[in-house]
Amino acid sequence: MIPVAEPFLGEDELRYVTDCIKHGWISSAGSYVKKFEKEFAKFCNVKYGIAVSSGTAALHLALLASGIEKGDEVIIPNLTFVSPASMTKLVGARPVLVDSDSETWNIDPKKIEENITGKTKAIIPVHLYGHPSDMDQIMSIAKKNNLKVIEDACEAHGAEYKGRKVGGIGDIGCFSFYGNKIITTGEGGMCVTNNEKLYEKMKYLRDHAMKPDKRYWHEEVGFNYRLTNIQAAVGIAQLEKIEEIIKAKRNNAMIYDSLLKGIEGIMLPPNKFWAKNVYWMYSILVNDKFNLSRDNLMQKLREKGIETRAFFYPLNEMPPYRSEGEFEVSKKISESGINLPSSAKLTKEEIKKVCSVIREVAEVK
Ligand SMILES: Cc1ncc(COP(=O)(O)O)c(C=O)c1O
Repeated sequence: MIPVAEPFLGEDELRYVTDCIKHGWISSAGSYVKKFEKEFAKFCNVKYGIAVSSGTAALHLALLASGIEKGDEVIIPNLTFVSPASMTKLVGARPVLVDSDSETWNIDPKKIEENITGKTKAIIPVHLYGHPSDMDQIMSIAKKNNLKVIEDACEAHGAEYKGRKVGGIGDIGCFSFYGNKIITTGEGGMCVTNNEKLYEKMKYLRDHAMKPDKRYWHEEVGFNYRLTNIQAAVGIAQLEKIEEIIKAKRNNAMIYDSLLKGIEGIMLPPNKFWAKNVYWMYSILVNDKFNLSRDNLMQKLREKGIETRAFFYPLNEMPPYRSEGEFEVSKKISESGINLPSSAKLTKEEIKKVCSVIREVAEVK
């Protein structure tokens, strides 16, 4: 099988993990976690990084530190992985779902303002599959309405919006280092911010909300969302090759684009002039003009040894998030989207194989 994703691991990961073990740094005490936070924040061009146990934990801490609580509303794209919505529920707030933009597949900034009420406290733009959301518009709406912006950059490490790295544009940026992400620590995540107060708050909540100068004293409910040094050691080795990984992904996307261009019924992934996509997942939309349905094309690819994945379901269709509204664009994107094999380790021959199966299907009369 040509996989959808696979980790890009090497000797350095092994070396740094071995060093951790030799020092006895198996939990969060040790030098790798701090180094990983510092280096990752630098990569995002922000001041502070708080390493956590997952991207979901990062979103939870970001919401708590932003003061989101029961009765508040948080604006979220209808087409995303579930975490921003589930974490909004977890803090007692209501996820308010907004339809997608047909060109970027991200939250449609034109539809945000009509969803703002007196209870709205934050917007969580998600940079879906590696393409940035239109941050200027989102930041200006947030400023006008006094809302926090929590960027969900879990799928977009290194992606750029008008020359700025995503995650460093809003109040807080959240990243995931799950095994299939651009860089991985197995499980893991990071919050990044330029705001010292938010940084201190997230650090405190990550560690059981224990009073810094009074051990075992807690004035708030906190969590254990710490990352271990062993994970951070893998993360540092990964970060050392992140540019190589992103370069490989962009190069693969160029090859895919050139081989899939012009096939009737296939829409290629977005790459707006103001954006630099990192193609976490190289994704296409299959519309009615294509010879097969989306699901039948996926089946055909599977038969030829090619793994693919269907897009996320629209949040509004699932029981905990069910809501009324116009979600036509996100529904259409969700129903027609496929993630093709997107690993940085993919060879040109493998990409050619994937594209030739799609082209063969397209050319059957
Ligand atoms: C957009 C988005 N947000 C949040 C997450 C959650 O990250 P994690 O799996 O590390 O909890 C993921 C990925 O899994 C994601 O794709």
